[in-house]
Amino acid sequence: MVSRVIPVENFDLVIFGGTGDLARRKILPGLYRRFCAGQMPEDSRIIGAARGDLDDAGFRKLIGEAIEEFVPKNRRDTQTIKDFTARLHYVAVDARGEKGWPELAKIVRQDVVTAFYLSVGPGLFGDIASRLHDYEIANPSSRIVVEKPFGRDLESAKALNAELASAFEESQIYRIDHYLGKETVQNLMAVRFANVLFEPLWNAQYIDHVQITVAETVSVDGRGAYYDKSGAMRDMVQNHLMQLLCLTAMEPPSKFDPDAVRDEKLKVIRALDDIAPENIVRGQYSAGDDGVASYVEHSEKPDTRTESFIAMKVDISNWRWKGTPFYLRTGKRLKARMSEIVIHFKETPHSIFDEDAGSHANILTIRLQPDEGMDMRVTIKEPGPGGMRLVDVPLDMTFAEALGPQTEDVPDAYERLIMDVIRGNQTLFMRGDEVEAAWKWTDPIIEGWTTRGDRPMPYEPGSSGPEDALMLLHRDGRRWREIRK
Ligand code: BG6
Repeated sequence: MVSRVIPVENFDLVIFGGTGDLARRKILPGLYRRFCAGQMPEDSRIIGAARGDLDDAGFRKLIGEAIEEFVPKNRRDTQTIKDFTARLHYVAVDARGEKGWPELAKIVRQDVVTAFYLSVGPGLFGDIASRLHDYEIANPSSRIVVEKPFGRDLESAKALNAELASAFEESQIYRIDHYLGKETVQNLMAVRFANVLFEPLWNAQYIDHVQITVAETVSVDGRGAYYDKSGAMRDMVQNHLMQLLCLTAMEPPSKFDPDAVRDEKLKVIRALDDIAPENIVRGQYSAGDDGVASYVEHSEKPDTRTESFIAMKVDISNWRWKGTPFYLRTGKRLKARMSEIVIHFKETPHSIFDEDAGSHANILTIRLQPDEGMDMRVTIKEPGPGGMRLVDVPLDMTFAEALGPQTEDVPDAYERLIMDVIRGNQTLFMRGDEVEAAWKWTDPIIEGWTTRGDRPMPYEPGSSGPEDALMLLHRDGRRWREIRK
């Protein structure tokens, strides 16, 4: 079965920072794939805007090369790259000055969907937004897309929101968290709200605890300066893990509509308890046998106390979740690249079998990456004679196996999100109040360890993080799921 391609209207998409790393690695290769899928209408254009003095031909060449580099060989060919890059244009602009803006005003059409993707540092959001407005390049139905990091604390996030709000309505602002564009993240909503099976059990009465892991093998090499200012808490927890937690914990929205979904996520964030220091473990990776330097060396600050790993126990104070902790962990240079949400159900209230039979609990795993899928562990009788012995078996559904070729051409997170921008669908984007609420919860946690002067614990590359992170669960009589290769 071939995946369905929903047409979009003609558009002009302007990418500020169009020659930058994200544009070359993700945004333009993603658009190329949508072009190949037939989702870029004939008369649509992509306009790169950046400081450098390039022309259309130079930009086309640059992006052609990026596609060669970042799109797998079996998904590209020379002619299509040529056809795609023919849709590209370039305008040199000075985000803080006046250069290039009149040219941009001339080139951007007003009778098609217009979207402005700010793939630039947040320091430029305000400058660009106000010029788009003042030069009448943006109109009331234009969309503006901004990347993370959306601020570094509540105060800066509020300031960014205010800057954007001076030129755009909230309904025009698309704050990207690319985790929301991942296929399985959306599947989480389908599993919860399109099946009658799970929702009645989806609460503290039946769920013992939830584990959310986003483990990476990469280091922060080359991004040390950025990472040292953010750390795993700002880089991963405040946004990606928080979004996973929200979608897992939220109440069913009345419909799958941007505000209904975001209202429910916001309620979860507002119900998060403060976290006591003993419920947080932070770590920094040491140098590896493979010759990769330590976090401290990558950060270039010998006395850095920034974390490349964090694990925490989070409580949600509402009727649904009181008493069911959510354990979150994420880190770089870990054993494997693996992201999953694991729902540990409680044991049956009473066992009718002998003690020898053993006791078991159901576990539902939602795997985000690398191999997207779900796994439900159910308890059955171990086959054979010798009485009643219980054993857990997986009801495994790897989407690639179950759905075959349909899963091969699944758009990556960026492709999906950019097409949602063009369609004007904000469901998978963060609303301003949601981002602010997330910082409001995050700020005192960071402030806490900064004031106490806590040092992150070293951990071995290729491990599951510091020992203490294991203790966080052992202490409660629970265990993390193994981070597997
Ligand atoms: C980014 C973070 O937002 O997400 C990176 O800044 C991280 O540090 C990346 O590596 C992880 O994304 P993915 O899609 O590879 O899991």
